[in-house]
Amino acid sequence: MAVNLLSDKGTPIDQQKFTWKDLVQKPISKMNVDAFTRVRIILMNGIESESIRFGHSCARMNKELQASLAKIRRKEQHQQTMVNWLLPADQSPLETTIGYEQVAIEVTASLARVEPDPYIAQVLRFGLLEDFDHLYRYSALLDRLQGIDANTITQGYTDIVPGRPTADEHRDPLDDLREHYDKKRAQPLTKFHAYTIMAGEHQTHDYYMHYGPWFADPLARQLYAEIASIEEQHVTQYESIIDPTESWIEKWLLHEANEVYNYYSCVTQEEHPHVKAIWERFLDYELGHLQYAMEVCKQIERRDPAEILPETLPEPIAYKSNREYVRQVLRDELNLRADGTRFVDKSQEPDRSLQYRLQLNQDGSPTQTVAAGWSWAPGGELTTRRGLKEAA
Ligand SMILES: [Fe+2]
Ligand SMILES: [Fe+2]
Ligand SMILES: [Fe+2]
Ligand SMILES: [Fe+2]
Repeated sequence: MAVNLLSDKGTPIDQQKFTWKDLVQKPISKMNVDAFTRVRIILMNGIESESIRFGHSCARMNKELQASLAKIRRKEQHQQTMVNWLLPADQSPLETTIGYEQVAIEVTASLARVEPDPYIAQVLRFGLLEDFDHLYRYSALLDRLQGIDANTITQGYTDIVPGRPTADEHRDPLDDLREHYDKKRAQPLTKFHAYTIMAGEHQTHDYYMHYGPWFADPLARQLYAEIASIEEQHVTQYESIIDPTESWIEKWLLHEANEVYNYYSCVTQEEHPHVKAIWERFLDYELGHLQYAMEVCKQIERRDPAEILPETLPEPIAYKSNREYVRQVLRDELNLRADGTRFVDKSQEPDRSLQYRLQLNQDGSPTQTVAAGWSWAPGGELTTRRGLKEAA
């Protein structure tokens, strides 16, 4: 299945229609579905959420694009609903959180492994080790609060051990900014990676900000507060790798092309027939959006979209366990820290970040407290249940 970004028409936008019944499809089963189906659902929700966020920002700054953006944005909103509502009601916010961190780890690792720009690959690996630690901290919370083994969600694809300690991830904002790719020289794959990871991290931040206050347990509330702060740092990092000299319309085209790339990646690997049919349908919808945006680009900017977009897509995002790769990055780069846009050994971390962190953590760090004396062991759920039984 080859996709031509410039000539494939996809589904014309006036044929992209929904009814409420169609919009709200049968959810997946949290236990019986492969973890990577959940990973794709969560990431695609993030991709759609970013397309709406971008559409609004762009409309607020460009009167002449408002009507076209309003038209497409309605489709994006309905797409996001269909995708996100695939998550089942019996998957608690904390279990979904485990899913979010698995997305952050496995998707970031997959991108980093094939990223052609060595600096951007380094940025991805830097973020990877931080989200890796978040999975461990939230897994400790899931065990403490509900006696549930996080591995029931991650299904053995992802290690649950400490990464760069979250308590050490708090940095001065100046140490979260990175160098951006050059829009003229960067390969399309680099651009897709940057747009994808920014979308994923942004929705993760928003998710933690939304669900943190749902918990009664004070430590859980603090834990979400602490990790949400890091996700904000991650959004800062990943948006800064995108060339800010791209025009608004250039960014619109790249958003649509990246949506095509992401749905295409899902289609190539999805085994769940019902979910796969949705990816196929939306791949065609995104090609329709892209056609529409390219027309707008020709009319308003008098530019040929072929100057901005590649004709063919790169290899799809690989949805597979990156366990060995992540272990290697942990061994090699755990002690890296940021000094402005550069990565340095932790002995050279700037004082501004050390001071910032010292102040924030002075009453203790919830991510340390939650995992104190805890380590993940296989079958933790059973052990806890047995423990409770024996105690009773
Ligand atoms: Fe979309
Ligand atoms: Fe994270
Ligand atoms: Fe993150
Ligand atoms: Fe779109």
